[in-house]
Amino acid sequence: MPRPPVPRAPPHPDVATVAELIAWAARRLSRARLHYGHGTDNPRDEAGALVFHALGLAHDDAARAYALPVDAAAIARAADLVDRRIRERVPSAYLTGRTWFAGHEIEVTPDVLVPRSPIAELCETGFAPWTDAARVRRVLDIGTGSGCIAIACAYAFPAAQVDATDISPAALEVAKRNIGAHGLQGRVSPLLSDVYSGVGDRRYDIIVSNPPYVPEAEMRALPSEYHREPRIGLAAGERGLDVVRRILAGADEHLEPGGLLVVEVGDSQAAVQESWPRVPFTWLEFERGGGGVFALAAADVHRCRRYFRRES
Ligand SMILES: C[S@@+](CC[C@H](N)C(=O)[O-])C[C@H]1O[C@@H](n2cnc3c(N)ncnc32)[C@H](O)[C@@H]1O
Repeated sequence: MPRPPVPRAPPHPDVATVAELIAWAARRLSRARLHYGHGTDNPRDEAGALVFHALGLAHDDAARAYALPVDAAAIARAADLVDRRIRERVPSAYLTGRTWFAGHEIEVTPDVLVPRSPIAELCETGFAPWTDAARVRRVLDIGTGSGCIAIACAYAFPAAQVDATDISPAALEVAKRNIGAHGLQGRVSPLLSDVYSGVGDRRYDIIVSNPPYVPEAEMRALPSEYHREPRIGLAAGERGLDVVRRILAGADEHLEPGGLLVVEVGDSQAAVQESWPRVPFTWLEFERGGGGVFALAAADVHRCRRYFRRES
């Protein structure tokens, strides 16, 4: 389908303050009919992120920042970012190089998916009521990408060691920088691993994953913004279950008794239910929206272990 033409904007919008510049940017973004779904869901929030980044403003003092005056150079920098967001259909987080996950700042590059999993909400509550946070000693995050879930788990479970695995060496480099930026090198270990191949015979209290789960036919229909992300972070075979299947098949060998498996499968929820109809998945609900995340107790994983291996 041909793209709508990029609406022309005056090279120097007539604005005097940060608030006016954000309002101008939001109007421009709305007219461009972009797709939102990479950490924000509306043009106003994206405009705010782009303008704050262009002007080097801190998000923790936003109220004061809105009233600040803007000069021509600052307006030009912000206008350039807004223009790239529209012209290149690139998620804002790749333009600013950062986003927030469960309240933690995370560096992102096009080597990693832009963090947006509803699992953030679980991390914020220490996976309550599914687990006793004080007893969690080992966590495995499969497909860590930027490291966002592993890092949020390290904050949620202060006594835990976290293994942050990914099959992509480029993603692991970004995860390493994020782990370092949060001073978590002693507790979060980035590991190159194809699902469980890099973790030996280790067992975990929690295995958590936001793996790729987009079916091949849906990949082709995704808005342009998603094609800026690494394909390996999204595409998972014909039904979207290629990696999920392997996570389920190996979970019994890597969960502690009393442990918990949490996996995001998004819109592939129906395919999961159809593939394993006898498994008592608990589908989690989130206050901030999103879904398609199941929890499964280690005892149920153990009961279903042959079933999972047979289906693999
Ligand atoms: C949907 S992204 C999630 C990234 C991050 N956890 C997040 O929530 O933003 C999936 C990640 O799984 C990784 N991945 C894909 N196949 C994998 C495999 N077989 N084993 C381990 N990681 C894999 C990708 O490289 C990507 O970083």
